[in-house]
Amino acid sequence: MIVGILGCGAMGTGIAQVAAMAGCEVQLVDISDAARSRSRAGLEKILLRQVEKGRMAHDEVKAILGRIYYSDDLKRFAPCDLVIEAIVENLDIKVNQFTAIEATVSESCILASNTSSLSITTIAAQLKLPQRMLGLHFFNPAPIMKLVEVIPAIQTGAAITTQANKIIEGWGKYTVLAKDTPGFIVNKVARPFYSEALRILEEGLADVETIDDVMVQDAGFRMGPFTLMDYIGHDVNYKVTASVWQAFYYDDRYKPSFAQKSLVDAGYLGRKSGKGFFDYSDGATPTPPSTDPDLRARIMHRVLAMLVNEAADTVYMGICSATDVEVAMTKGVNYPKGLLTWGEEIGYDKIVAILDGLYEYYHDNRYRVSPWLRLKV
Ligand code: NAI
Repeated sequence: MIVGILGCGAMGTGIAQVAAMAGCEVQLVDISDAARSRSRAGLEKILLRQVEKGRMAHDEVKAILGRIYYSDDLKRFAPCDLVIEAIVENLDIKVNQFTAIEATVSESCILASNTSSLSITTIAAQLKLPQRMLGLHFFNPAPIMKLVEVIPAIQTGAAITTQANKIIEGWGKYTVLAKDTPGFIVNKVARPFYSEALRILEEGLADVETIDDVMVQDAGFRMGPFTLMDYIGHDVNYKVTASVWQAFYYDDRYKPSFAQKSLVDAGYLGRKSGKGFFDYSDGATPTPPSTDPDLRARIMHRVLAMLVNEAADTVYMGICSATDVEVAMTKGVNYPKGLLTWGEEIGYDKIVAILDGLYEYYHDNRYRVSPWLRLKV
């Protein structure tokens, strides 16, 4: 099959690699000469490293690279069966490009967007054939992260969703089906990992070193929330939080934090600027985390209770199935366990008691228990 990809930045290049490794011919289109050269050089480097490590034969790499064609011309999409857009996160620019793509491809070509935050329904509404459009949300880096969220818009034809799902599974990915709602599954369910940690920090209950240490050593996450936010970049992470909050009509559950906004305003964007919650300059000395077992248990249970609640409510609101929310968080962001499984292990009654206790104390709507959990106890 022939796959078109618009945009060869981090995501477009990664998706092209996945498709070409699965045997597809890939037409990769980008307006920037520099981006195309960077993409090609990056791909060669990554694949040749696989040869050095003995994981791939040289001929295999040559064949994969030979299946990827670069261009700046949308007309190259004419023979494509599927076109995935991965350009700048701007609705007007995306719609503009989809309109042009639609004028080039055949009627049977499936059109997909890799957007993280825009509504698929809004993009589809601008197409001549909205039923052929859906979201295919890959994770970064696409060749390594195993999850793809498949997001039909309300206009999407059922057969298109099934067909796209089959293609992506054929590329060796796990797929989950998500309703076209803000943040889809992963970026919505993961919000409390950051927001509850920030809240604990802002209240002065614990410092960043302790909260991160608890979430890694005691809970088993690969990275603590503050290290992860520093890694993602506060400009990016704050923008996602603010957009999910706004898109959910300013629901208190997703309210952004001043602690993070201040970092953005100061230009302390995390690792990339040498400073965020942590100082990455040479000679910086980290503060040792607290070893107080009560404090550590309170931090862990509070963050986990909020995550389990968010996963439960995502299922309750019909955004995805209980099975898919588990797959999404373990394969999309490498959580050590599915959140519903985790909640069951801790005890849904205990999770509800923690949340009710927080609600009682703060009278803040963010701590309201999902009916899904309430029904379990
Ligand atoms: P990027 O900035 O690395 O790459 C975007 C590419 O699109 C650039 O090479 C640029 O030259 C090209 N481009 C811009 N306008 C164009 C146009 N009109 N025609 C052709 N090419 C054009 O961006 P990145 O990170 O790859 O993200 C792309 C999309 O994927 C965005 O919608 C983003 O929300 C989404 N996404 C990003 C993830 C990430 O972690 N970076 C994860 C999942 C989705």
